[in-house]
Amino acid sequence: MISAAIVGGTGYTGIELIRLLSAHPEVSIDLLTSRSEAGTRADEIFPSLRGISDIVFSDLGDETLATLQQCNVVFFATPHGVAMKQAEALTQAGVRVIDLAADFRLQSLAEFEHWYQQPHACPELLKTAVYGLPEINRDKIANALLVGNPGCYPTTAILGLKPIIDLQNQQAVALIESRIVIDAKSGVSGAGRQASLALNYAESTDNFKAYSVEGHRHLPEIEQGVAQLLDSQFNHRIRFLPHLVPMIRGMLSSIHMELTDTGALIDWQHVFEQSYQSEPFIDVMPKGLYPDTRSVRASNRLRIAVYQDNERAELTVIVVQDNLVKGAAGQAVQNMNVMFGLDESLGLNFAPIVP
Ligand SMILES: NC(=O)c1ccc[n+]([C@@H]2O[C@H](COP(=O)([O-])OP(=O)(O)OC[C@H]3O[C@@H](n4cnc5c(N)ncnc54)[C@H](OP(=O)(O)O)[C@@H]3O)[C@@H](O)[C@H]2O)c1
Repeated sequence: MISAAIVGGTGYTGIELIRLLSAHPEVSIDLLTSRSEAGTRADEIFPSLRGISDIVFSDLGDETLATLQQCNVVFFATPHGVAMKQAEALTQAGVRVIDLAADFRLQSLAEFEHWYQQPHACPELLKTAVYGLPEINRDKIANALLVGNPGCYPTTAILGLKPIIDLQNQQAVALIESRIVIDAKSGVSGAGRQASLALNYAESTDNFKAYSVEGHRHLPEIEQGVAQLLDSQFNHRIRFLPHLVPMIRGMLSSIHMELTDTGALIDWQHVFEQSYQSEPFIDVMPKGLYPDTRSVRASNRLRIAVYQDNERAELTVIVVQDNLVKGAAGQAVQNMNVMFGLDESLGLNFAPIVP
C-alpha cells in the first residue's frame, strides 16, 4: 500500500482527495492536516465521509513534518507558498510530493514572483519539478519526486490546444494565426472554501461576471504550456479571460482561433480524435456534439469538441472538466498512479454524476 498524506484537508480539493483516495485500492491515507481543525474527526466536518473514513485532522507542526517524511507521497492541497517550505525536506527523505498549488508550476522564477507576489523558497528544487499533465509529460512524471499539479484553467487550455500545436510543429507551417482567445468559465468552488463576500450565496447566485480581466495568474502557465511544454515553433499571443458562473463545480473553456489557408485544409475533428485516441480520460465528442459541464461532474474526464468553419476561417475548441477533479484532485491522483507505476486509471475510472 502507498502511504499518503494530505496537507490542507479541510478545503475543497482536500475533501476531493479524501473522497478519491479512500476508494483507491492501493492507498492508505495516514495523515491529514488542518491548522483550524486539528484534533477533529474529518467526518465531523464532512458528514459525507461518515462510514468512509475515521481519520482525525493533525496540526501541521514540526512533529507532523517527521510523520510526513515517513509517508510515500504527500499531497499539498493548500494555498501557494505552503508546499515550497516543506518540499526540500520531504524530497530529500525520498517522499514524493504533489503540490496542487502553483509553487512548482512555473519554471520562470521572475514569472512566479511577479504573479504570486512572494519570493520562491527553493528555486533549485523548481528545476527538478515536473509539470503534472500526464497527457503530455507522462514519462517525466513517472520519474519525478516533485510534481506541480496544473491549474484548472491551464489544464483545459493546454489540452485543448495540444493537437493543434503538435500538428503545426510536425508540418512546420502555421495552421492557425498567432492570436488565440481563451474564454473560460468556472463554478464557484474554483475559488476554494474560505469565506468571501464575492462568493456568498446572494452575490454569486443568479449572477455572472468576468474577473481578473487585466491578467490572471493562469495566463503565464498557459503561455508556458504552449511555448515549452508543447514546444511550439510559432509565437502565439494568448488572450485569456476567466468568468465566474453560478454553479458549484465545473469549468468550460472556449478556445477561438483563426485558421490559415493551410490550416483550413485540415480535418480538425479527425486530428483531435487521432491525437487522443489512447488517452483514458480525454473524450473527443463526435462531430456536431458539444459537451456540457454536467457530463463530467465529479469525474476525472475532460471532454473536447471541435468546430471548424472554413468559410469564416474559424476554429473553436470547447473543453469541459470538473475543476476539482481533472482540474485538481483527480489529476493529482492520476499523477500519483503514474509516479508509482500503477495503472493510470486506478481509483479514477468511474462515471460522472448526473443530474
Ligand atoms: N478549487 C479548485 O477548483 C482548484 C483547482 C485547481 C487547483 N487548486 C489549488 O489547490 C489549492 C487548494 O485549493 P482549495 O480550493 O482546496 O482551497 P481551500 O478550499 O481554500 O483550502 C485550503 C486548505 O489549505 C489549508 N491551509 C490554508 N492556509 C494554510 C497554510 N498557510 N498552511 C497550511 N495549510 C493551510 C486550509 O486548512 P486550515 O486553514 O484548516 O489549515 C485548507 O484545508 C490552492 O492552491 C488552489 O489554487 C484549486
